[in-house]
Amino acid sequence: GKGNYRHFMEKELHEHPAVLGDTLRQMVNPGTRAVVLPELPFDLAGISRVTITACGSAFYAGLVGRYWFESIARIPTDGDVASEFRYRAPPLPQGGLGLLVSQSGETADTLAALRYLKAQGQHVLSVVNVEESSMARESDAVLQTVAGPEIGVASTKAFTAQLAVLACLALAAGRARGTLSAAQEAAMTQALLEVPGRAAEILEHDAAIRRIAARIAKARDVLYLGRGNCFPIALEGALKLKEISYIHAEGYAAGEMKHGPIALIDPTVPVIATVPSGPLFEKTASNLQEAAARGGQVIVFSDAAGAAKLQGIAAETIVMPAVDPFVAPILYAIPVQLLAYHVAVLKGTDVDQPRNLAKSVTVE
Ligand code: F6R
Repeated sequence: GKGNYRHFMEKELHEHPAVLGDTLRQMVNPGTRAVVLPELPFDLAGISRVTITACGSAFYAGLVGRYWFESIARIPTDGDVASEFRYRAPPLPQGGLGLLVSQSGETADTLAALRYLKAQGQHVLSVVNVEESSMARESDAVLQTVAGPEIGVASTKAFTAQLAVLACLALAAGRARGTLSAAQEAAMTQALLEVPGRAAEILEHDAAIRRIAARIAKARDVLYLGRGNCFPIALEGALKLKEISYIHAEGYAAGEMKHGPIALIDPTVPVIATVPSGPLFEKTASNLQEAAARGGQVIVFSDAAGAAKLQGIAAETIVMPAVDPFVAPILYAIPVQLLAYHVAVLKGTDVDQPRNLAKSVTVE
């Protein structure tokens, strides 16, 4: 049941800390602070290329994974939505790894992509939430998200659990390939272990996020911006808003704004930024200044240092915990999902069963 929550989605949003803890506990030894994956039937050190494919939010989790595999394990990585990937007939190298991400393990396009990857001689690894699923059965190896049943049609806790698994996989690959020093691995693992606690702190901003939702609920169009490993979080925020509140939203790489979307910005358009401090902060900050200069209502999700720098231009700010930029996407997903939830509640939509959508898309 929903317990004291109004919707399954709200309950599931509040399960982020527990689910992240359960998922990480499977893969991180807290004593040694080492990632320990189940034994894989292939050697991560020998993987020539990773090909990630999935649909919807699961694909956005995969996109974050791409940043991690490239930067942490230095593996060439490609990603595409399964509905395109399966028909592109992409040539793939021997010894490559096909990586599928799916809550249900039954999404038709993702399953077809899995079969294509196998036929192309790829090792096939699935990140799934449902253990007894078609994708789990047909894969060479499975890394399970321990999110429990997700009832709300809009994915929430399964998404952050997917990120946690992909982060562990990237660290394991980095260790296998010798691209991570022991000190770096220990620091990054420590950052991961702190994620459930930080997630709980973020949920304490619920009332502040609800106030921001009142502003968003009046908008016709909303733009989400992010950069680097938080770019896919902009995509996730926009998808979540459109699917449950029916407000038009787009997620963009912050640097792409001046190549088109900036034309949309006026005082009626909220611009929501997931912008943690880090090497890319100043770049995104200058994009946000451009948005503010055109009257856009800039809504900032950043840590205290970032929030201070953006104080002059932000219409609203949520101060996030300061974390290693590596784990930022896991945490920044939470407030954008929460924001979409509150907007949908204000709009009076059917939050758990949004129109025209199904939880598991088993036809293409
Ligand atoms: C968005 C959402 C969908 C799913 C997509 C893939 O909130 O829930 O975009 O992520 O349909 O579903 P799975 O993960 O079951 O393959």
